[in-house]
Amino acid sequence: MTDTAQLRSESLSAVSNAGTAAALEEQRVALLGRKGRITEALKNLGQLAPEERKTFGAAINALKEEVAALIDTRQRDLQRAERDIKIASERVDVTLPARHTLPGRIHPVTQVIEEITAIFAAMGFTVAEGPDIEDDEHNFTALNIPATHPARQMHDTFYLQGNGDGKTLLRTHTSPVQIRTMQNGKPPFRFIAPGATYRCDSDQTHTPMFHQVEGFVVEPGIHMGHLKGCIAEFLQAFFELEKVPLRFRPSYFPFTEPSAEVDVGCKRSKEELVIGAGNDWLEIMGCGMIHPNVLRNCGLDPNTHQGFAFGMGVERLAMLKYGLPDLRTFFESDVRWLSHYGFDPLLQPSLAGGLSG
Ligand code: PHE
Repeated sequence: MTDTAQLRSESLSAVSNAGTAAALEEQRVALLGRKGRITEALKNLGQLAPEERKTFGAAINALKEEVAALIDTRQRDLQRAERDIKIASERVDVTLPARHTLPGRIHPVTQVIEEITAIFAAMGFTVAEGPDIEDDEHNFTALNIPATHPARQMHDTFYLQGNGDGKTLLRTHTSPVQIRTMQNGKPPFRFIAPGATYRCDSDQTHTPMFHQVEGFVVEPGIHMGHLKGCIAEFLQAFFELEKVPLRFRPSYFPFTEPSAEVDVGCKRSKEELVIGAGNDWLEIMGCGMIHPNVLRNCGLDPNTHQGFAFGMGVERLAMLKYGLPDLRTFFESDVRWLSHYGFDPLLQPSLAGGLSG
């Protein structure tokens, strides 16, 4: 005769020990399925003597119900446990700072423009913009560049079809933004104008497209001393140095008078170039007091208005600050280069928080 006590303890422990929904289903089939142990025991009732059948039948039916109920409970427990594990594994703590695993990087040109903007913003400069496609008037004539100036010649300037008059071009510098901003506003002016510029030139140190940042101030009483102080302060902040040796060398630009080129002290060796130390000089930007003709061309009286302007090359500053050896790699769009020389998009340059992260 079948021993119900043993069948019961074996069935209950098998169900209780099932660790997953699949294992529990296996046990259900093994006990209550068509060929399950409890089902078989019920089938065999008919072969028992009537007395035995009564007591055994009642016991085995009770066991069947007990096991079915236990399977139900166990199933619910397992489902809840599985759901809890899933929820725990998918949990996202939105209060955590973002992890620095973002694949995107900020291009050094963008980074340097943002650094320059942060420095000049602290000195009260706003940001002005102008179009990349310019006309002869804004790019040259209004800037006091005479028709015979070499910069106007085809080999320097990209001329576009435009309306066929040969006067539409890609701006060769950011200086036309001086003209546009003066024509559209009223003095005083204190702005920088970062942007792309184009020259028909391509070799190891020139790319046909590059970037400049123009600086422009027209305010009462502005003189060369302000220009010098402004540039000295900018270069110290940009190169993150206590003091940068500076030299203002007389130069010529049609739109400034007097004009100067700014050199920074550096040490040059075969392997490297260190800014701020040594006996060599490196040219870093052009600048000067705004030429009276330029003010006049924009409707300002040079007897009552004066100011300074400067212009610098962004790629050059990026190469010097971050030791980027080859200009051409800037525009090759090689993601390996960008992941090496690029910057963390989450670290916005600021004077308080650090410029270069
Ligand atoms: N526009 C000049 C250049 O491209 C730079 C410059 C700007 C010089 C403003 C003086 C003043 O070379």
